[in-house]
Amino acid sequence: MEEKIVAYATPRPREIPPDGYYWGIDDYKWVLYPNPEVTTPREIGVTPIYDKNRESGAKTIVNVGGAGSSKSHSLEQLFIERLTQEKNKRIGITRKTFNSLRMTTMLDMVALLKDYGIYDPNHHNKSEHIYTHNSSSIQFFGLDEAEKLKSANFNYIWMEEANEFTYKDYTILKLRCRHPTIEGERNQMFLSLNPSDANGWIPKRLLSESDVEMIHSTFEDNPFLSQDYIQTIKDLIHQDANFYKIYALGEWGLLQRRIYINYKVIPELPDMSEAKWCYGLDFGLVNPSAIVKVYLLSGQFYLEERLYKSGITNKDIIEHLTHEEKGDIYADPSAKQMIEEIFRAGYNAYEAHKDVKDGIDLCQRQTLLVPASSVHLIEEIQSYQWKEAKDGNIMSEPVKFNDHLMDAMRYAVYGMTERYGFATAKPGGDKPQSMRPSFSFG
Ligand SMILES: Nc1ncnc2c1ncn2[C@@H]1O[C@H](COP(=O)(O)OP(=O)(O)O)[C@@H](O)[C@H]1O
Ligand SMILES: [Mg+2]
Repeated sequence: MEEKIVAYATPRPREIPPDGYYWGIDDYKWVLYPNPEVTTPREIGVTPIYDKNRESGAKTIVNVGGAGSSKSHSLEQLFIERLTQEKNKRIGITRKTFNSLRMTTMLDMVALLKDYGIYDPNHHNKSEHIYTHNSSSIQFFGLDEAEKLKSANFNYIWMEEANEFTYKDYTILKLRCRHPTIEGERNQMFLSLNPSDANGWIPKRLLSESDVEMIHSTFEDNPFLSQDYIQTIKDLIHQDANFYKIYALGEWGLLQRRIYINYKVIPELPDMSEAKWCYGLDFGLVNPSAIVKVYLLSGQFYLEERLYKSGITNKDIIEHLTHEEKGDIYADPSAKQMIEEIFRAGYNAYEAHKDVKDGIDLCQRQTLLVPASSVHLIEEIQSYQWKEAKDGNIMSEPVKFNDHLMDAMRYAVYGMTERYGFATAKPGGDKPQSMRPSFSFG
């Protein structure tokens, strides 16, 4: 990739305030002095998306963009900057459900605060999900905990994955955006989303309202992506036109060929002491490695996300397994070497059934129940689609993108039905394993 400008904002005067935490531009580079004692600044890379959000004066700023275009990271940085640089500001960060916020943005944001040397556990109210810095604060909330919102007013509200919300949610939140501010400053709404719903309220309604600015972005705006990830996004062109449009070009498209509609999100798992269960495992490196624990209880499958993490090795997976209850593991059959390693480490790891179409057919015929805490699994199951051929015909293979937990759960469901009979039959009956690995302990 050609060289990208990492920051191109207009320079501002360099002044380190007496109470520390200077965040600003020094010779066109973003620098951070975490506290007054630090005299060598830490340089922090930002993307043009950070700068565009920072400079926008609109009441509502809508970040529409493809996968990995730095929407989330840039807004995290922007609100850390406003938290530390502005006085008496209340920042609200929200997703439709608190569970999904907690496992994504909230986690990332706390990690960034720590990385920047700003985080102080004494300033973190973990029961209210409020992080305070001097006179300003950030509150994390899901719209499913509306009662907490009753008295809360904000200067800035960020609606992450804004597709999940309704127009009404937006107007209610906008009414909350009325915390007192000083003259010349303005309270603002920020939204971020992938353009996956061309018929949704954001393109159909919000974007044509006045005082709304759209910031469009693609992976090309983000110089921090790995080549492998960029390739994955570019390769979508060979997979599916709509996916390419939405996730690579960041343009409005529609996801209309959903594979699973036979699932339901439940508040939490019921008592599983009578259930049969096993794990499904999908290996990743740039992509996340994924483990799903699948339970079969009274003829229904329950899918629980246990691991979803990028950049980990097989050794890390084995380490993770030491914290899990021991049971059968059905893993990606193309990764024979990894399966063997796990098997040798003392786990019952098997090659899962290879046939994707058969596996999906089988999963489609079951009732799939997902606890609300399995947020990545819910995200994947909602966007898991059949490929569309160039002539517009639907193909009988899924788009290979954000499908890691989908693969893992398919391996597990197939393994379980092979072993215990079909889920619609009465569970039980220890059928012999038909997919024993072809190797033994060395
Ligand atoms: N300024 C930055 N510095 C370092 N890494 C960044 C920066 N901006 C984005 N990234 C990284 O790039 C990846 C994609 O960014 P992300 O914000 O998740 O994109 P989006 O929300 O648009 O899908 C993430 O791994 C993120 O940490
Ligand atoms: Mg994001």
